[in-house]
Amino acid sequence: MKNFDVPLHTKGRSVFVDDMPVPEGTLYAAVFPSPAAHGRIKKLDVGKAGTGEGVAAVLTCKDIPGQNQVGAIIQDECLLAEETVHFMGEPVALVIAETKAAAKKAFKDIVLEIDPLPAVTDPRESYANGTLIIPPRTFALGDVDKAWEECDMIVEGRVDSGGQEHYYMEPQGAVAVPVEDGGIKIYSSTQSPTGVQRIAARVLGQPMHKIEVDTRRIGGGFGGKEDQATPWACMAALAAYKLKKPVKLVLDRGEDIKMTGKRHPYSSDFKLGLKEDGTILAYDVMFYQNSGASADLSTAILERTLFHGTNSYFIPNVRATAACCYTNLAPFTAFRGFGGPQAMFVLESAIRTAAETMKLSPRVIQQKNLLNEDDTFPYGMKVENCRARRCWEEAEERYGFEAIFQNVESFNAANRMKKKGAAVMPVCFGISFTNTMMNQAGALVHVYTDGSVGVSTGAVEMGQGVNMKILGIAACTLSISPGRVKIETTNTTRAANTSPTAASTGADMNGRAVQVACQGIIGRLKRLAAELLHHENADDIEIKEDMVHLTGWKTALSWEALVTEAFNRRIDLSSHGYYATPDIYFDRTEEKGKPFAYHVFGTAVTEVTLDCLRGTYEIDAVHVVHDAGKSLNFLIDRGQAEGGVVQGIGWMTMEELIYSKDGRLLTDSSSTYKVPDIKFTPRVVDVHFLEDAGNPKAVMNSKAIGEPPLMYGIGAYFAILEAMKAFRPDGDIFFHSPLTPEKVLNFLYLKKPSIP
Ligand code: MTE
Ligand code: HPA
Ligand code: MOS
Repeated sequence: MKNFDVPLHTKGRSVFVDDMPVPEGTLYAAVFPSPAAHGRIKKLDVGKAGTGEGVAAVLTCKDIPGQNQVGAIIQDECLLAEETVHFMGEPVALVIAETKAAAKKAFKDIVLEIDPLPAVTDPRESYANGTLIIPPRTFALGDVDKAWEECDMIVEGRVDSGGQEHYYMEPQGAVAVPVEDGGIKIYSSTQSPTGVQRIAARVLGQPMHKIEVDTRRIGGGFGGKEDQATPWACMAALAAYKLKKPVKLVLDRGEDIKMTGKRHPYSSDFKLGLKEDGTILAYDVMFYQNSGASADLSTAILERTLFHGTNSYFIPNVRATAACCYTNLAPFTAFRGFGGPQAMFVLESAIRTAAETMKLSPRVIQQKNLLNEDDTFPYGMKVENCRARRCWEEAEERYGFEAIFQNVESFNAANRMKKKGAAVMPVCFGISFTNTMMNQAGALVHVYTDGSVGVSTGAVEMGQGVNMKILGIAACTLSISPGRVKIETTNTTRAANTSPTAASTGADMNGRAVQVACQGIIGRLKRLAAELLHHENADDIEIKEDMVHLTGWKTALSWEALVTEAFNRRIDLSSHGYYATPDIYFDRTEEKGKPFAYHVFGTAVTEVTLDCLRGTYEIDAVHVVHDAGKSLNFLIDRGQAEGGVVQGIGWMTMEELIYSKDGRLLTDSSSTYKVPDIKFTPRVVDVHFLEDAGNPKAVMNSKAIGEPPLMYGIGAYFAILEAMKAFRPDGDIFFHSPLTPEKVLNFLYLKKPSIP
């Protein structure tokens, strides 16, 4: 089935926050940002700005009727700065005017004096200063300290990975409309309507029922709107509440890049111990997470880093420690993979270091240590239905690893200024919010008297196709044609207390809730059909192609007639469904448990060609064998896999966040921050889904797919590294992403390559 959003997107008819027709009298807000990365506010005077042409008001923290607090996990983040500013771009004041241009014009009349304080941008420096957001956490298995003695080879090293701008096509934004009796309706580009509702209620000092949040779809989130859509929605709500007028606040690209958080940069140290044959015995790793200037989701992301510390491998002795290091940069946040990619890059780097030292192929080490059924992760969970080896072997056979690597060798022997490289990247990713409580979802399904159906859930459509998947589940459970089903907006009055659409669980959890709701309705309708057909057993009733069937035979009773009759007989045509992922838990004192419903597996092989004159590279091909369970929708899942791969390669290669020492983001526009475009996209991205790979742990035997494919992109780093080594075998390999052409050239030609 095609995604019903696609015709709208391609014709430009899908509606995003900035496209919505606004009520008459709508005002526009602009956010006045902190010009300093750290400092004490000596003076803030907005008096003159408030009298500017077309300006309706200038609001500061003093105007907040409830709490000036937007922190979701730890309450350490102001909506508008109070005494101190903590990062450049931190919201200080909100100007509301007849146009956004008028609001921005008033910025020059805001008097802000700041006593500068030292700004820290480096996580290791923060760690040394002891400025951690929570105490470090450690996951451990076996006895690392003892295991070193048994190792034939021990390697150590350092790995750095850069952050990543989300670059969703729709920037952050919201429209807030006052409704009667002090209520506010907010249209927000958020992955978490309930999160916006909860925090807006806190900021306004109102009960949650006074705040309604509505989201039709968002133009990409990638984690960047899991909780960082909230402040902008709260600011619009605050202004609407104070001025009793609709207020629109939409960031432009520059504002968005400067003011919002990104993927966390990490700096890590590893020590890896192996047997002569490549068997990994011990892994000791320390992750320094650059958390930014407030907790945001950093603590949850840190936890997922620890969960994915050993990726797709079994290692009997592990000690993984991780620290949330406070710095004066915009608070880093969720980004596809949620700390997992950073962890996997470290272990892959450790494996490369060992391979180099031991003169082994990295593939030998990788394959030897892949997970087997019932292996234990450092967090205590055993791997069930393990498909790590199956994916590897199927990729090996299907794409011919031997031929790929031989071709690289012969190409490199025959060419001087062009070199090829290839790398294999296995991935294992756990599905469920690691915070067990968040794994619940609700749905509301109405069947209307004409037989059409409206479905509401907590899932937010952000391009990942969750609405199409849910539509398919509803149509299938009710056995009616998909054309009869409509997915409504995500609205807090129809789906309450929802989790963000995140952790790749959108279709899993909301799909199950829809299934439960539809089963309620269809059960009642089948009993009625049996009665109408004078048949005892409702189990013999089936609806097929919109007609009622009895013991396999088509009757004259249509879906529409059945629904109408149900209404006439006062049978409930609506149902609420609820789903909570069963059998998951995690004990944070022991750091052990079973946090995930299941794992997703896969293996990718990446081939690149390096231009050794220019330091530029092309990604020739990425071949993937991916475990999608029984896919709910092949086209959507292929799109998710392809998009994830390209986004992962972007993170590893060209997307570079450069900060000045005083905490200014220098790559703050589309001309300086480069994301993969169609030209950079690998010529071949070949995704094969495992066959006969049903998954009883998720709806209709499917598997979540949103995040895992991003991590295949890590292979690109090592493929390029191989090509670099082919040109300069004496160069010291390094692990510092992104691997930009600039770094490549340094490696190829500098006498003593100085890697940052
Ligand atoms: N795909 C598109 N097109 N746009 C997005 O914003 N977000 C990703 C992934 N795929 C995203 C996307 C992230 S970070 C997650 S967690 C999942 O989609 C969320 O949706 P799901 O749970 O329905 O898979
Ligand atoms: N993944 C994504 N988002 C989250 C998670 C998670 O595990 N926990 C809290 N928010
Ligand atoms: Mo995705 S990072 O869990 O929104």
